[in-house]
Amino acid sequence: MTVTHVQVPQDAVHLLPQTKHLRAIHTILRDRHAKRKDFVPNSAHVMRQLIEAGLELFPFEPLDVQTPVGRTYHGLRLATEICGVSVVRAGDSMEAELRTMMPEVRLGKILIQRDRTTKLPRLYYSALPADIAQRHVLLLDPMLATGGTALAAIDVLCERGVPEENIVFVNLLSSPEGIRTVHERRPRVRMVTSSIEERLDENAYMQPGIGDFGDRYFGTDLAV
Ligand code: PRP
Ligand code: URA
Repeated sequence: MTVTHVQVPQDAVHLLPQTKHLRAIHTILRDRHAKRKDFVPNSAHVMRQLIEAGLELFPFEPLDVQTPVGRTYHGLRLATEICGVSVVRAGDSMEAELRTMMPEVRLGKILIQRDRTTKLPRLYYSALPADIAQRHVLLLDPMLATGGTALAAIDVLCERGVPEENIVFVNLLSSPEGIRTVHERRPRVRMVTSSIEERLDENAYMQPGIGDFGDRYFGTDLAV
């Protein structure tokens, strides 16, 4: 998989099938004139697909159940305890979708903000399930740009004893640079995304991109 001049390692990332409907949703999201009433539900739609794809990367085991008409359904269930960890603030948007899909899921939070000038991530706070080291983790942040924030969040998880291979990082938009940076430092972390952008610009925003996701989703950008 090649995107412009930065090579994306093929085994590093699972890209959602680029269906026409997914492209149509991205068209709404990318439009600078999109209203929040359209931006929020359309991004939620993609987030659910991303979470589904992330769950597919966790282990499942067989489970038989009896149906109401007396037959056996040879089904499956997750073979591991999981939890979601959102990177505040933008990751809260994905946490909301995970919670709707799995109301009982345990959730952790890591507050990291990119410095507005240097674009370097700063860790402020984390609150994680006590037994997180025994869980598989869906790490939730819609944007993977330089990769600095993702790496800082993964460091927090690994310091708490989560094996790298138990982390699936789910994001809506990713840059080739960010994918490569995360993959080089944390090769066993798997990533799921709905779009690999062309590149980062000089302000560490993705191109063609979506702008500042958090501002657009939460309405702190007065334009939307
Ligand atoms: C955005 C985004 C990611 C980060 C990605 O957060 O939600 O967390 O930037 O950039 P990186 O890959 O270059 O580190 P931001 O710090 O702008 O905060 P926000 O969630 O409040 O929008
Ligand atoms: N954060 C965003 O919200 N958008 C980008 O393009 C990069 C980081």
